[in-house]
Amino acid sequence: VRTCIGQQFALMEAKAWLASTYDLFTFKLPPGFTFMPSHKEGGASPNLQGLALQVFPAPGARTASAVARVPAFFGKGAAASSCHRRSDSLSRIHAGAEAACPAGGAAAGLRYAVFGVGSSQWETFHAFPKRVDARLAAAGGERLRGLATADVCGCGFADAFEAWQADLLAELLAIHNVRVPRKGSAAAAAAAAQGFASRRRVGLRMLPEASPFPGASLEAAVATLRGVQGRGMGADGLPLDFTFSLLRVVRSQELQAQGSGRSTKHVELALPQGMAYTAGSHLLIQAANSRHLVAGALALLGLSGAEAVEWTPAVTPEAAARGCVMPPITISSAQALTWLSDLAAVPTRRQVLELAELCGCPPEAAALWELAAEDNYRQQVSGPRLSVLELLARHRSLLAALPLPRLINFLPRIKPRYYSIASSPRSAPDRACVTVARVELTTPSGRLHRGPGSCTLHDTPVGGFAMGSVSGLVSCFRLPPDPATPLIMVGPGTGVAPFMGFLEERQALQQAGATLGPAVLFFGCRHPAQDYLYRELLEAWRASGVLSGLAVAFSREGPCKVYVQDLIKQQGAQLWALLDKQGAAVYVCGDARRMAPGVAAAFQAVAQEWGGRSASGAASWLGSMREAKRYLEDVWA
Ligand code: 2AM
Repeated sequence: VRTCIGQQFALMEAKAWLASTYDLFTFKLPPGFTFMPSHKEGGASPNLQGLALQVFPAPGARTASAVARVPAFFGKGAAASSCHRRSDSLSRIHAGAEAACPAGGAAAGLRYAVFGVGSSQWETFHAFPKRVDARLAAAGGERLRGLATADVCGCGFADAFEAWQADLLAELLAIHNVRVPRKGSAAAAAAAAQGFASRRRVGLRMLPEASPFPGASLEAAVATLRGVQGRGMGADGLPLDFTFSLLRVVRSQELQAQGSGRSTKHVELALPQGMAYTAGSHLLIQAANSRHLVAGALALLGLSGAEAVEWTPAVTPEAAARGCVMPPITISSAQALTWLSDLAAVPTRRQVLELAELCGCPPEAAALWELAAEDNYRQQVSGPRLSVLELLARHRSLLAALPLPRLINFLPRIKPRYYSIASSPRSAPDRACVTVARVELTTPSGRLHRGPGSCTLHDTPVGGFAMGSVSGLVSCFRLPPDPATPLIMVGPGTGVAPFMGFLEERQALQQAGATLGPAVLFFGCRHPAQDYLYRELLEAWRASGVLSGLAVAFSREGPCKVYVQDLIKQQGAQLWALLDKQGAAVYVCGDARRMAPGVAAAFQAVAQEWGGRSASGAASWLGSMREAKRYLEDVWA
């Protein structure tokens, strides 16, 4: 189960994308400008809600004071917004934004523009950037442009951001009379090439043919690096603050019945010493490009895969401050293509323009300019999910401009994936399990897409290694401190994963003699003979009292669909008693688009029918449940 934690995920997306596009700390603007991304790296709370970018001329008497004020503002912003979760109320978010912003006239002289990135699946969509924007204006700041926002649900935000940024830059450049090279000119091509050079995040160099490739596995290299740096390869330009380790696969078990046509695996991983977790937290797994994708890229580049490439992993700023230097390691071209960048990435519109600038063949360059026109881009690139590699295959003159190290730097970093942990440390502290549905589909452009996270985990044999770590982000999914508190868990499909952790924990507590409160699980799948994941275990827990209720909705068994929310409504009387009289906590995990809203509506219907609430009364009851952290969601799109 890939768990995108709503707004937290929005920020990860934003950070990963920014880091893959710019060097955040040394972004190069024309002389006389400063550009500040609002996110604060490091610390335990990388969960910032709004992404605000500030661009202002520097230094100058008035603006200098603004520059000085910015880091403090952003520092506080990161801290304040770190408490914002999906279930947080609007008032809390507003308070966070207010704490983050200067008050009174304190922002006088500050010129700013806010770009908010959020998920429309959250009720608090863009509440934070809106408030920050308004607050900065109220504090005397000068808006360079009105608030701009993007929704990470759907097609992502990169293009909206790029368009916004291009307009903003053009406006600033015009204000300050900075001349920009015309597109298609030699100066523009030189600037594009320089842009490439300045975005060289992955230190990579092809070694001369004669250099022997030592044949060491990347896994071994990562282990060595950990020894050197004391931190994992997460340092290498990855925008996340975590440490990767090698996690040995100790069990890998198919959960779907033969003939279901799908595959979901229970994968058990050994954790290195010192890596701890709590039930309900997440595991980050480093995704890898599949073998067929790597083979395709090698063929395109005319490489065998065995060429020696020198990779100098970057160090985190903190490690650099401690004087840490990474020694270069030699890897193969196939390893570089497997681990360092996302080979399935679809180019942004700006990247298509950049390729047009770089293209040495005039007819192909003209075709690329045309492709970058807004409508063409939407219809031929972003819509059908045309990847950078597919574009290179169609415009082969580009290959001369993109040798392997450049290609790796052109493509975004391959992002780690979040999986809900499906086990409890109480039953074995040195292992963590995940429930992984294999993602495999054909894109409209005709490319076979194999989910780089799920397929990596599925394809790793027992005894093999995955690279990953327990997430440093505190999950909102935590068991109540008192095991007597009743639980209502709703998790269709792989959404059942965190509940496997909860239930394992309850089993251990029961064995230790604790008194358990009631716990009801609503699970949903297509057919009892196909995808009833963990059936035996769940039924055994029902029999032993670890579960007091197990309700399973089969959507493709009978003539009509039955979903978890139907069963919730059917059991309304019992559920209301648990909620109203016994302080039960509700946990919902799985699909964010339709299942989570459907389940929320079912609980509101229960409050109406059994709690005698009006429609609006039931809505505010649910709101107060969320506020009290008794209605928690861990859902993904
Ligand atoms: P379906 O695919 O047959 O429609 C796990 O994926 C289970 O969740 C499946 O049985 C799936 O049913 C079901 N599901 C699909 N849409 C849902 C929704 N809106 N609410 C609840 N469950 C849903």
